[in-house]
Amino acid sequence: MDNSAFEMHGDATQNVLSVGKMDTISRMEKKRQWSLMSVFLVCLLACTITTAVGVLILSLVYVNNSQPHSEVHLVPEAQPLRATTIPIVQKAVDPKFQFLNHLPKSKVFEFPGGAIQWARYRSNVKDYLSVEEEAFGSSLNSQRSQMTLGTLRIKSNGLRAPHWHFNANEHGYLVQGTAWIGVVDDGGVVTTYNVTAGQVIFFPKNTLHWIKNVGNEDCFFLLFFSTHDELQTLDVDDVFFSTPEDIAARSLKPEGGINFIRTFHKQEEDQGVNLPPNLAELVMNASYAQSPDSLVWRYFYDLKGSKEYRFPGGIIQRAQYWKNGSELSNNEKIFSEFLNQHQNALALSTLRIYNNGLRQPHFHFNANEMGYVISGCAKVGIINTQGTIEFDIHIGDVIFFPIGTQHYIKSMCDEDLLFILAFSTGDQLQTLDMDDYLQATADHILAQLFFKKQSEFKKIPKFKEDQAINLP
Ligand SMILES: *[C@@H]1O[C@H](CO)[C@@H](O)[C@H](O)[C@H]1NC(C)=O
Ligand SMILES: *[C@@H]1O[C@H](CO)[C@@H](O)[C@H](O)[C@H]1NC(C)=O
Ligand SMILES: *[C@@H]1O[C@H](CO)[C@@H](O)[C@H](O)[C@H]1NC(C)=O
Repeated sequence: MDNSAFEMHGDATQNVLSVGKMDTISRMEKKRQWSLMSVFLVCLLACTITTAVGVLILSLVYVNNSQPHSEVHLVPEAQPLRATTIPIVQKAVDPKFQFLNHLPKSKVFEFPGGAIQWARYRSNVKDYLSVEEEAFGSSLNSQRSQMTLGTLRIKSNGLRAPHWHFNANEHGYLVQGTAWIGVVDDGGVVTTYNVTAGQVIFFPKNTLHWIKNVGNEDCFFLLFFSTHDELQTLDVDDVFFSTPEDIAARSLKPEGGINFIRTFHKQEEDQGVNLPPNLAELVMNASYAQSPDSLVWRYFYDLKGSKEYRFPGGIIQRAQYWKNGSELSNNEKIFSEFLNQHQNALALSTLRIYNNGLRQPHFHFNANEMGYVISGCAKVGIINTQGTIEFDIHIGDVIFFPIGTQHYIKSMCDEDLLFILAFSTGDQLQTLDMDDYLQATADHILAQLFFKKQSEFKKIPKFKEDQAINLP
């Protein structure tokens, strides 16, 4: 704009000069006429020149504006270059780690009564132990997985302290052991029950809950949380010690008042999973009662005892919401309906695949999927819009299949592959298998698509039995 302002000054001097020339030509005319005429001409010239200058300014402004546009076009071409030369080279990581987490390699958070490990997103990149863990965590978050997985090991008599989560429902599967669960819902309604291996627990967002190992062996839980952000949790002991003494005294009105409150002392170590060495002195009279079915089955599902969906190559069992609950027992219906009443609830299922069995390529319409390998080993394939990725999985590995990606799982060990899977839907899971969608597509459409005679497609047989998990 400075330049065009300067040019305008130049035009103005030219204007004055041409006025001078015209003075000499019209010397013979009457002074008034002349002066009127000259004023008119000067005005006309001035107008013309001003218009010309205006057009010039506009065109310059346009050129100035269009130049940054062309720079913008250049920038995206330059950026991938910069991106590939600096950050990606620094953090070269196999793309499979967007879908795979070697959980046994992750940090173990040790507590007096047990330990916790995580496959999750961290908002501070420094909290990841490796670039592989970071790739998985940021993939969960950027693809809005609505899921995070944690493992919880509790020693015999250990207690996962009463606590609640601000931002997630919790769905757990007990792999090993026996635990006594307490859930406190709105208005202080308490529900308690025992769970054993193969069963499922559900803690809706912000219900207070505890888990006590009441067996002789370790309890081992796989916990899915319905968030891809950092989980926000408060433990009851931490809240208690953060509450001013006088407020605690007035709220609880104990014998001895505030002096009684002052007899409580916070332990040095985090008591997230606790096990006091002198537990036998502290607890004399523990009872592990069970609440009525109508309460218990809202938070509990006997997955191991539920209907088995049998296929040639394996078995699937499901703890989920069913639109048509006619095949469910009355207690299972309570669970199904309760799940569906909660936002962002998850569906859990176990997937057992015999040696050499194949969970054929399929995808889900309405859910992301996360899974943990409990036993066996497998080859997994994921086909998304960027291509295909295949990798091996073993005990303790965690996988993530984003919604819509076609995936398959081939059991490779002698031992059955056993997966616990979570799906990010509180509705009935919707799935389409490769054989089903190819059978459903008209022969002539396939013939045209694959450059192959229509009659050739008769070679792909239809089976009476569902081939979701098949054998060769
Ligand atoms: C022990 O439990 C029994 C039955 O639940 C109860 O009646 C008794 O009061 C309890 N004793 C103590 C010391 O809590
Ligand atoms: C829960 O398990 C504990 C330990 O096995 C047992 O003592 C208790 O009776 C059980 N409670 C119920 C209601 O079955
Ligand atoms: C529900 O499922 C049962 C058994 O699978 C079937 O007989 C019934 O027709 C179904 N009901 C509806 C409304 O689809």
